[in-house]
Parts: sequence; structure tokens; C-alpha cells
Amino acid sequence: MIPVNDPLLNGKEKEYLLQCITDGWISSDGPFVKQFEEMFAKFVGTKHGIAVCNGTVAIELAIASLDIQPGDEIILPAHTIISCALGIIRRGAKPVLVDVDPETWTMNAAEVEKKITIKTKAIMPVHMFGHSCDMDPLIALAEKYDLHIIEDSAEAHGATYKGRQCGSMSDVSTFSFYANKIVTTGEGGMVMTDNDEIAARARSFRNLCFLPQQRFLHEELGYNFRITNLQAAVGVAQMERVEYLLERKKAQGKKYTELFGDLNGITLQGVKEWATHVYWVFGLLLNNNVPFNAFEWAKKLSDAGVQTRPFFWPLHEQPAFHKLGLFLNEHYPVTENLARRGLYVPSGMALTEEQMEKVSLAVHETLRGI
Ligand SMILES: Cc1ncc(COP(=O)(O)O)c(C=O)c1O
Repeated sequence: MIPVNDPLLNGKEKEYLLQCITDGWISSDGPFVKQFEEMFAKFVGTKHGIAVCNGTVAIELAIASLDIQPGDEIILPAHTIISCALGIIRRGAKPVLVDVDPETWTMNAAEVEKKITIKTKAIMPVHMFGHSCDMDPLIALAEKYDLHIIEDSAEAHGATYKGRQCGSMSDVSTFSFYANKIVTTGEGGMVMTDNDEIAARARSFRNLCFLPQQRFLHEELGYNFRITNLQAAVGVAQMERVEYLLERKKAQGKKYTELFGDLNGITLQGVKEWATHVYWVFGLLLNNNVPFNAFEWAKKLSDAGVQTRPFFWPLHEQPAFHKLGLFLNEHYPVTENLARRGLYVPSGMALTEEQMEKVSLAVHETLRGI
């Protein structure tokens, strides 16, 4: 079976992990944490990086660091992971959904303005599968209505929009370093900002809101979202080779595009001239003339030795949110189609050209005659 994701850990990851153990620095108190934060912030181009234990809590922390109050509304795409809405709900705010663009599968700015109300406090664009959102219209809306932008860049390490790094175009942005991400720490995440106040709040909330002048005295309800020195050690080793990792990803994207570009029955994610796509994962969308859906297709591909993953299931179709009375009777047709007809093929950092060719053969075989 060709795995859907396999990390590449053949830099100095082992050496740095052994160093943590030899030195006894295994908690979040350790030199690799600061080093990883500084390296990643420099890479993204932000003043601050606050490392945390995963990308889901990075979103919650980003929201906690802003002046978002219970009842405030945050607009986000319906086509994303549940983490984005969870952070909003857990802070007492209300997630408000919009559909995504049928070509790039990212947040549709034209839809965002229709959802802005007096309660709207922020927009949360989510860069999708390594392709940036169209940020300029969103930035213009944020300026017009005095809104924050919280940029979820979990899937877009090194991706750019009009030459600007994803994660550097907003008040606060977030990343994930889960094992399937371009830069990984196994589990991990980071909150990025240029704003000193937001950074200070994020650091405080990450670490239980201990008061600097008196430990174990707390004026606010914080979290323990700390990352360990062990995870950060892996992150430092990854960052030492980040340009190589990005080159590998872009080469993968190019090769898959060549292999699938003229295949009948599927549509690929559109790549805009303003985007540097880093192909975090390579998505395939079944056209309407194909007589099976993504789940049936995934089974056929699995039988042929190719592991795949479906796209995100729409946020407005999540029973967990319906129980809260959220998104009932809402419809976002592009998102719904992506969920039912999209999947991504093996896209891990360790994937070889030979494996990509095998994946392509299997995909072609399942679509023969279409
Ligand atoms: C867009 C997006 N945001 C947030 C997350 C959550 O990150 P984590 O899995 O590290 O909690 C993910 C995870 O894949 C993601 O794809």
C-alpha cells in the first residue's frame, strides 16, 4: 500500500532528540523551543512566533489573543477542518460560514461581504492544500469594516500570495506541524504575529496566564498549550532543510500535474497566477460524469494499493454543530460537491517518483472508459 503520508526525518532530527535526552530538557522549558520559534518566524516573515502543541489549539490561542468577545462573529469557509470552528466556539464567539471558490477551493471573498454584520469581528481565511486564498479582497474588507484577519496557514508552509508569505498577511496567523505537514514536529503548531501585544497575550494564555510578578496567581483563564523541547528539536532539524522540503513538494506537484493534467473525469485544484502553490496535498475532484463518488473511488484505489483521504466534510453538515443549533438548513454547493467527490492521493514528504507513477496508473485504471 502506498501510504497517503510519510514524513521525511533524515536530517538532524535524531541527533537533536538525543541531545534533549542527554541534556535532560524534555519539557517546554528548553532551548529548542525558542530556536524553533525564531527560525519559523523568520521564515514566515513575522516578528513573533509562539509555538504550541498543535494547530487546533493555535487557532483557539490566536482568537484568545484578540479582543473577541462572546457573541462576536467570525466568518470562515465551510470547506475546512473542524478545528477552525472549534476555536471560535470555545471562545464563545459564533462561526459564520461562506462557500469556497470552485476553482481554487479557498474562501470566496465575494461571499464574505454578504455575511458581515454589526457583530462581525474577524475573517478567517484558510489557505487550502498549499494554495493561498485571494487575500487582497479580504484585506480590503477587513479595512473597510475594521475587522481582524486570522489566517489559518496550517497547510501552506512556504506558500505565497503576490510574493507575500502565507501567514504574514494578517493580524495573527496559525500553523500546524502535524506529521503530515511540510514542516513537522509530529504534533505541534504556532501562532504568528507582528503585534507585540497579541504576542504577549498568546504567550501568557499558552502558559496558564501565570502572572509574571507572582507565579501561581492568575487574572485570566489560560491554557496549557505548551510544546515540548523534544518536538521543537525535530522542528529545528526540519527548518534547517525547509528549502529542500519545499522544493520536493513543488516537484511533486509538478509531476502529479503532468500525470493527471489531461485525464478525463477529474478536475485539479486551479492554480492562480498570484499564488506559489506548495502542494501540501494533491487533490483530485471527480467530475459529474463519473458514476461513483469519492468514497467508492477511495475503496477502488485502496484495492489497487493506493491509500487516499477524502476532502473535509462540510462544517454545516457536522452533527456536533447541529446539536448546538448551528448551520441548520444552510447550504454551500461548492463545499458539498468537494466533500462528496474529492480526495487526495499520496502526498507525503517521503513519496518517491516511482510511487507517484504507480498512483497515477491506479487512478487512470479506475477512470478507464470515462
Ligand atoms: C486548515 C487546518 N487548520 C488546522 C488544522 C489543525 O492542526 P492540528 O492537526 O495540528 O491540530 C489542520 C490540520 O490538518 C488544518 O488542515
